[in-house]
Amino acid sequence: MAGLIPQSFINDLITRVDIVDVIGARVQLRKSGSNHKGLCPFHNEKTPSFNVNQDRQFYHCFGCEAHGTAIGFLMEYDGLTFPEAIESLASSVGVEVPREQGSEPPRDTSLYEVLEAAAAQFRRWLRSQADAAAAVAYLRSRGLTGEIARDFGIGLAPAGWDGLKNALSSFGEQKLVAAGLVVRNDKGRTYDRFRERIVFPIRDTRGRVIGFGGRVYGDGEPKYINSPETDVFRKGRELYGLYEARRAQRRLQSVLAVEGYMDVVALAQHGVVNSVATLGTAIGQAHFETLYRHVDLVVCCFDGDEAGRGAAWKAVDAAFPVLSETRQLKFVFLPEGEDPDTIIRSRGREHFQGLVDQAVPVGEYFLEHLEEGLDLDNADGRALLSELAVPHVGRLPNGALRRVIVDGLADRTGIDAAALDRAAGDARSSYAEPPRLIGQPSRLELSPSGERLLLEIVKDPELIAVLDSETRVALAKDANSSLLADVASYLMEEPDADTGTLLARYVGHDAHDQLAAFAARPLLLPTQAADFAAKMREYIIDMDLAASSRAAEQSGWSVDDLRRHAQRRREVL
Ligand code: UTP
Ligand code: MN
Repeated sequence: MAGLIPQSFINDLITRVDIVDVIGARVQLRKSGSNHKGLCPFHNEKTPSFNVNQDRQFYHCFGCEAHGTAIGFLMEYDGLTFPEAIESLASSVGVEVPREQGSEPPRDTSLYEVLEAAAAQFRRWLRSQADAAAAVAYLRSRGLTGEIARDFGIGLAPAGWDGLKNALSSFGEQKLVAAGLVVRNDKGRTYDRFRERIVFPIRDTRGRVIGFGGRVYGDGEPKYINSPETDVFRKGRELYGLYEARRAQRRLQSVLAVEGYMDVVALAQHGVVNSVATLGTAIGQAHFETLYRHVDLVVCCFDGDEAGRGAAWKAVDAAFPVLSETRQLKFVFLPEGEDPDTIIRSRGREHFQGLVDQAVPVGEYFLEHLEEGLDLDNADGRALLSELAVPHVGRLPNGALRRVIVDGLADRTGIDAAALDRAAGDARSSYAEPPRLIGQPSRLELSPSGERLLLEIVKDPELIAVLDSETRVALAKDANSSLLADVASYLMEEPDADTGTLLARYVGHDAHDQLAAFAARPLLLPTQAADFAAKMREYIIDMDLAASSRAAEQSGWSVDDLRRHAQRRREVL
């Protein structure tokens, strides 16, 4: 994704779009008083508890507590990243997203159109082409029906060198090459990349075709060929089947990571609709990052062979850095020679589901794998186990999983858990940083009075206007250390910001959920503007007193000194 999106643009954009339009385009809403209501898209319900508030540009579900801004909604509902949600909003109001200097060159988004046209052409060929009978017979022989072929948009690339090149000639050869559909050889000749193959379109989470995988249906080598990396196709991040899984299960809870296209399709054929596959590459950290944006549980179910077991162990290391507190990883080990496709076809869905239900948690697998072949009755064996484990443990962020693994190691080796944890060192968490939009206040906890003030500000950002200049200066100075001060100083800079704009600023930051919860909370007795200013002054004095008392602990000031100091502040304010 190219360079940073300027904050000013995001603010502008938020004021330009209406959350009611954004959500209304996806969920049926009915006006009800000052709200719009509908059936919540994030949980199953029969009576509408999903509210969209136009004044505050905010949505809230009283059933499942989902809430947020237009941006947050798009991220959740369409499965977008923050920059993608901005892109989507911008295009809905017909503006270009500017990028700050020093960014990558812009992606060639016209490729989507070419790829979509190719997918449509491949689908038509599977219905009509002379070769289609053999391809369809092959799909049938693998147990697939027309319905599943349609759901996955499966198509056919016919034999011959230039079927697609000719069919899409209006796009120009250059584009077809850039899209990875046509290959240009050393002599400058061009020809179709996919020939005499069944093609699986690979879609991004928004459903746009970004590449293809093509399988031979007769004899031939190699078994699969895949689109090369292009401007719109990044193999390290994309997963086959994720779009289809999200479409099949709106509130996707978990995904099953498998190895092959055929596994994904065969599982779906048997009603297991939440599987995904990497694209001819091993599953890597970026794949896990993509997956954990959508679900909390990933179950790896690789082939029951040497390669599959190797892939599982590699997956552990790829996933470790992103396994924060709520994220889970499990493993299913299939019998030798089986893959998910063969097992679900021979044993059926129930049996397969049973295997998934008994999947091994990553912590258990990790320890068992390392222990294999070691003699733990022997001091050397125990020392070796700890040596093998420690570098991996160092990749884990602090949290429950790390504790479970360290405790397990301590049990087995007799080495003190704290010592093991220290030896592993700090987890160098390399997972995606939230977008850096703000001065990241270090303290999110607030005193009850601070919390009350923040609640009022979030619900009514215009209140900031009543503060006098002394209070403003004091708040601005404190912006790095408290969330209330950070919010207040932002609003002083952006006096037109409403609740939605304010929340948008914190998307991706820990503070976001706290602020969003405030925005959704009812306010029974709003404070009068004049009282608000007075309370804010009190708060600053309290803060100051707390800071001074911390200083006093170190400097040896007396309480009287502190009182005098506070009094002076009171006079100044
Ligand atoms: P598999 O050989 O397990 O294929 O490769 P599969 O999907 O189970 O297909 P069937 O059941 O044999 O028809 C797993 C994945 O590895 C990549 C593909 O992404 C494939 O789905 N692969 C495999 C290639 O990219 N090229 C190849 O030649 C083989
Ligand atoms: Mn297979």
